[in-house]
Amino acid sequence: MACTSYIGTEMKHKEPGFIICGTDTDVGKTIISALFVQGLHATYWKPIQSGLENKTDTNVICKLLNLPKERWLPEAYKFKAAVSPHWSAELENRCIEINRLKIPSFTYPPLIIETAGGLMVPLTRNYLQINHLKQWQYPIILVGRSGLGTINHTLLSLEALKARKIPVIGIVLNGPIHKDNPKTIEKLGGVPVICQFPALKEITSESLSEIWINNNMDSIFESLISKF
Ligand SMILES: Nc1ncnc2c1ncn2[C@@H]1O[C@H](COP(=O)(O)OP(=O)(O)OP(=O)(O)O)[C@@H](O)[C@H]1O
Ligand SMILES: [Mg+2]
Repeated sequence: MACTSYIGTEMKHKEPGFIICGTDTDVGKTIISALFVQGLHATYWKPIQSGLENKTDTNVICKLLNLPKERWLPEAYKFKAAVSPHWSAELENRCIEINRLKIPSFTYPPLIIETAGGLMVPLTRNYLQINHLKQWQYPIILVGRSGLGTINHTLLSLEALKARKIPVIGIVLNGPIHKDNPKTIEKLGGVPVICQFPALKEITSESLSEIWINNNMDSIFESLISKF
């Protein structure tokens, strides 16, 4: 099925929000989204969900945080296959229409949007997710792994965002605490590391709350977001 080309339209929303994207799939975007949704009493939206065999990201967040239905928005697209959105859509003879990715109305700001996989994921055969981020006009929190390999992935992601003039609030490094990577990424990437999120034995609402408080996230986030 051929997807029609996208003609850009304004998708700006008047309520505040930000986008959680990753340096890769499976880097911890959903867990970090949960941290912010709970910490900021925010609303969660995963516009494109590929892979329905296990729990969807929205299911994970709702269960983990016991989130009431007014604090999450239903997906615009859900596809069975756990592959890149452009292909998972094609496997069902469907197509992602970019105009359906407009931000729906919501009551409890800020809105936290979790992207599908990494930045350069194609939404159609001729349209990359990173190019869509600009349409939402929200700043980015980039989630990367904490360990070996992350300097390369994070700096490449930041460069791609910078080239498109997409503003970045900061980075969250997820996994075992690393002695050098945060300061190296901050220095070379020119973007603050907001939080080093540790590897947890069990992810619960309480453990997220503990991390939020121990990292002084209320005041760190407030001072960072005030610049946007
Ligand atoms: N800090 C952590 N401690 C323990 N487990 C973690 C941690 N971060 C992520 N995980 C686990 O790793 C897996 C992938 O994390 P998560 O689902 O948040 O990634 P994702 O980037 O949202 O993936 P996707 O691209 O599929 O949306 C999950 O099973 C999650 O519970
Ligand atoms: Mg996820």
